[in-house]
Amino acid sequence: MPKINQFPGAYIAENQDRFVDEMKQLLAIPSVSTLPDHAADCIACATFVANLLVSAGFQNVSELPTKGMPVVYGDLITDPKLPTVLIYGHYDVQPADPLDLWETPPFRPTIRDGHIYARGASDDKGQILAHIKAVEAFVKSGEPLPVNVKIIIEGEEEISSPSFSDFLAQNRERLQADVCLVSDTPMLSADQPSLCTSLRGIVYFEIKLIGASTDLHSGQNGGPAPNPIQGLAQLINQLKNEQNHVTIPGFYDDVLPIPPQTRSSIEALPVNAQTFATQIGAQGLTGESGFHVLEQLWYRPTLDCNGIWGGFTGIGSKTVIPSEASAKISMRLVRNQDPQKIATAFRSYIQANVPPAFKLEIKEFHSGAPVGVDADHPAVKAGLAAVTKAFHKQAILQGEGGSIPIIKLLESELNIPTILMGFNLPNDAIHAPNERFSLERFLNGIAASVYFMQFLSQSELAE
Ligand code: BES
Ligand code: MN
Ligand code: MN
Repeated sequence: MPKINQFPGAYIAENQDRFVDEMKQLLAIPSVSTLPDHAADCIACATFVANLLVSAGFQNVSELPTKGMPVVYGDLITDPKLPTVLIYGHYDVQPADPLDLWETPPFRPTIRDGHIYARGASDDKGQILAHIKAVEAFVKSGEPLPVNVKIIIEGEEEISSPSFSDFLAQNRERLQADVCLVSDTPMLSADQPSLCTSLRGIVYFEIKLIGASTDLHSGQNGGPAPNPIQGLAQLINQLKNEQNHVTIPGFYDDVLPIPPQTRSSIEALPVNAQTFATQIGAQGLTGESGFHVLEQLWYRPTLDCNGIWGGFTGIGSKTVIPSEASAKISMRLVRNQDPQKIATAFRSYIQANVPPAFKLEIKEFHSGAPVGVDADHPAVKAGLAAVTKAFHKQAILQGEGGSIPIIKLLESELNIPTILMGFNLPNDAIHAPNERFSLERFLNGIAASVYFMQFLSQSELAE
């Protein structure tokens, strides 16, 4: 915690119980963007967030319509000459299933061992609340806000922000800023604060193989009849070789070598194959040989099958050759790779390798470009200093393996850099049962946001 007799420590200490209450209310709204049944919850969540902005002291608060879920907007412009920070976050969450693996229900936020447990606690509701409370701390303490602040909180990040590019095009003027601030990533570890400078991109497909026109008796037809589950398994198996390199021609063409300096700074971090396996609770790893686990996660592209189904999966046995089988396959991309180029390469490779007895159907979902932030930008230095001060230890720069598809769009449309200042930890179980966020990290996050605005106002950007 920051010093409680100082700003913002005093305000945070006096109001932390209310902050946690508000977080509980926010987390109780099941704003699952991918489930049509929860559309009304998403809209209710937008309104709840808008009210939080109003009571924090934001002006011009509105729920801006998009062709999907509204984007909540607010600003606080103190002096047009000051640098402007655009805070981005998302109020939508992933589905909570499997429900039976939650110790307490996902939308009944519960405090245990210093953490708040609920879907969205870390990704991303708890983190956006930290920034809202940082602005509130300035306003309510009567401390002059040293920058202009604009905030956008969208409701479709977890479905790849399908409405966001149109929204950006229509609101470019309103969103003008000098830097974008995002808290939607984890730090390296509990005792190593960090600021993130890269995210992977993503392309996502569903493929279906169809054999016979109907399910078949496996005795009457087995042998000559094409089995789409096995055809699909063969196809998927051909996507990676024994070294776990992706075999799609051209897949690595645009991937840049990892600079020796980056390699050695990764070697110095307290993470290796063993600690990573322990962290995820696996007995071994299957990554690309020749690369450190953090190089694999942050700076190497990869391909994963995210789901596979077909045939009989009920209790007992059924002798059947299914007519069709499907799989979801996604690829994480790194800096300099082009999602469209990779998508095309994937399609051609799949088409060329489907065993001839099967009809192929291929569906492309969302994609997002990778992100790389210039580590020498003054806003990165302000971010690093802010995290260092709030978390009481020299922060380091790191990469991340996840994706936030709109960041590249924000960067190129508004021509501003993004500061990825996440406060949660890798084991906070985002997208999984028992997602959580540490209350101490939440409060430190409020302080980090305050310090960022202060350091930014003292940086070259303010000149
Ligand atoms: N907050 C995550 C992104 C993230 C997670 C970054 C972990 C770094 C580390 C975000 O909400 C997310 O889940 N993104 C999706 C994007 C997808 C739905 C297009 C992802 O990465 O799978
Ligand atoms: Mn997120
Ligand atoms: Mn997410």
